[in-house]
Amino acid sequence: MLSFADFGSDNHSGVHPDILDALRNVNEGYTVAYGLDKYTKKAVEQMKEIFGKQSAIFFVYNGTAANILGLKTVTDSFHSVFCAESAHLTVHECCGPECFIGCKLVNIPTSDGKLTVDLIQPYLIGVGDAHMAQPHVISLTQATERGTTYRPKEIQKLADFAHKHDMLLHMDGARLCNAAAFLNVGLNEICGKVGVDVLSFGGTKNGMMYGEAVVFFNKALAKNFEFIRKQGMQLTSKMRYISTQFSAFLSNDLWLQNASHANEMAHLLARQIQNIPGVQITQKVEANMVYAKIPNQCITRLQRQYYFHRFNEHTCEVRLMCSFTTKPEDVLSFAQAIRKALDAT
Ligand SMILES: Cc1ncc(COP(=O)(O)O)c(C=O)c1O
Repeated sequence: MLSFADFGSDNHSGVHPDILDALRNVNEGYTVAYGLDKYTKKAVEQMKEIFGKQSAIFFVYNGTAANILGLKTVTDSFHSVFCAESAHLTVHECCGPECFIGCKLVNIPTSDGKLTVDLIQPYLIGVGDAHMAQPHVISLTQATERGTTYRPKEIQKLADFAHKHDMLLHMDGARLCNAAAFLNVGLNEICGKVGVDVLSFGGTKNGMMYGEAVVFFNKALAKNFEFIRKQGMQLTSKMRYISTQFSAFLSNDLWLQNASHANEMAHLLARQIQNIPGVQITQKVEANMVYAKIPNQCITRLQRQYYFHRFNEHTCEVRLMCSFTTKPEDVLSFAQAIRKALDAT
C-alpha cells in the first residue's frame, strides 16, 4: 500500500465501498456463467436506460480491450483509424490495435488532446485508392488524455463529418463520467445522442474494481462482437462480478458522485498552484487532471513525498491526477509542498 498522497493516476485508488458491497451481495450461491446470469441482464437493462433501448452492451475487463475489441468489430485490416497523437489507443496500448485489428492508426497532432474537423480533414486522403489504407473510424477520447473535454456540439460536428465520409465515430470513454460531471450533462448527451457509434465506457478509474463496457449505439454494428470478445480472451466466465459493479456504479448516481469529487479535487489543486511563481498550468483544467510545468529540481524533491508522473520524461511537465478518493487536505499539503520546493531552489 502506498503510504504517501498520490497524484499518479486515478487507477491508484481503491474500490468504492458500495462496489465492494455489491460484489459481496452476488457472492452467495450459484449462477450461470458467461453473462447469461440475472445480474448481467439487470446491468445491461440499466445501461440501456442510459444509452438507449437500441444499443447493444457488452462487458470486458479493461479499457484497452474495450477499445480494441470495439474497434475490431467495426473495421477491416485495410482500414485506418484517426486518433489524437496523445490517445491512449496509440500511445499506451502497446500496438494492440495494430496487432489485433491489423489496421493503421493515423496519429493527428493536437495540443489539447482534442480533434476537430479541421485537424482531421488533411488526413482524409486515398479514399477508394487500393494502394492506401481506407479511412474508416475517428476515435475521440472523452475526457481526453490531456484532461480536456468535448462539448456535445463539438462531438456532433465530428460525427456528422465522419458519417458524411462513410466513417464511424468511436469514443474512448475511460473517463466519460468525469467529462459528463464537468459538463453537467447526462452520459448519453456526450455520446449516443450526438452521433457516437461505438463507446468504451469506463468504470475502473471511477471507483470500480475492474470492468468496462463496450456500447454499440446501433445493434447491427455489434453483430460479431461476441465472437471477437471470446477470441480476444475477454469473455469472463464469472461475469456477475463485473455486472454487479456496473449496477451499483449506475445506481444512486455513484458514477456522478465519484467523478464530481475527482474533478473538484483537480480544480482545487489548480486553484492552489496556479499563482505559485515558477508553476505554469499547461492545459485547461476540466476533468480530474492538472498538467503543469514545474522546475526539474522541484519535481525530484517532490517525488520523494508524493507520487506523480512526468508527462514527458524529457520535459518538466507533470500530470497530476485526482480520483474519487483524493482528500482535500492532501491537495492542500501538496500545493504547500510545491511552494516550499520552489522556495528552496
Ligand atoms: C484514456 C484511457 N483509455 C483507456 C484506458 C484503459 O486502460 P486499461 O486497459 O489499463 O484499463 C486508460 C487507462 O489509463 C486511459 O487513460
